[in-house]
Amino acid sequence: MVRHPSVLTPSILAGDHANLAASARLVADLGVKWIHLDLMDGHFVPNLTFGPETLAALRRAGSKLFFDTHLMLSEPHRYVEAFAKAGANLISIHIEPTYDHVATLARIRDLGCQNGIVLNPGTPATAIEPLLAFVDLVLVMTVQPGFGGQPFRRDMLPKLRQIDAWRQERNLNFRLEVDGGIDLTNAVDCRAAGADTFVAGTSFFRAADQASYAATIAAL
Ligand code: DX5
Ligand code: ZN
Repeated sequence: MVRHPSVLTPSILAGDHANLAASARLVADLGVKWIHLDLMDGHFVPNLTFGPETLAALRRAGSKLFFDTHLMLSEPHRYVEAFAKAGANLISIHIEPTYDHVATLARIRDLGCQNGIVLNPGTPATAIEPLLAFVDLVLVMTVQPGFGGQPFRRDMLPKLRQIDAWRQERNLNFRLEVDGGIDLTNAVDCRAAGADTFVAGTSFFRAADQASYAATIAAL
């Protein structure tokens, strides 16, 4: 049975955009190994964030965190190389836009990164089912992507259970990540449904005690 240890991946979207290096340092100083980087193109989602240069700048500032890079882009295949060169460790791409998903997932690995496939709340698990053997991570969005601070959608729990069931049946090893509205309460439900990788933006950066937040996720 595949059961990865729980990993917290704080979303820098909720960090200090005037000093993202400080936000990344705060995460690393807690002993957290991953950081989630949300890239938005104002087209696939109705918001804009930053680009590959921001990842490169974080590396230059000394960050050794695992860069969990979530591309919310209509044409992710055009940018995977730039993100790999900028220091991404994992690059996740959405299933919804039209492009060659299989070739792009393979290209991400050729570039020396792990790959991930992402699905929006309205996209059924069956849409990514044929890709499960070719990915290192599946990201189930638990909000409609574009903005932090939205409420967690409990109706995504059956989707997690379905994807976890396929993972067990086929003896696959990908991580199962959740993103959107995650807090210490619903993370327990997501873990029970098969999730092992927890993005947290608002709830993490606003937490009074971030060290105990990180420890609680690690102990799930
Ligand atoms: C939403 C992003 C999320 C966001 C999560 O489009 O993909 O990663 O930062 O933020 P919270 O945890 O505040 O919902
Ligand atoms: Zn994200």
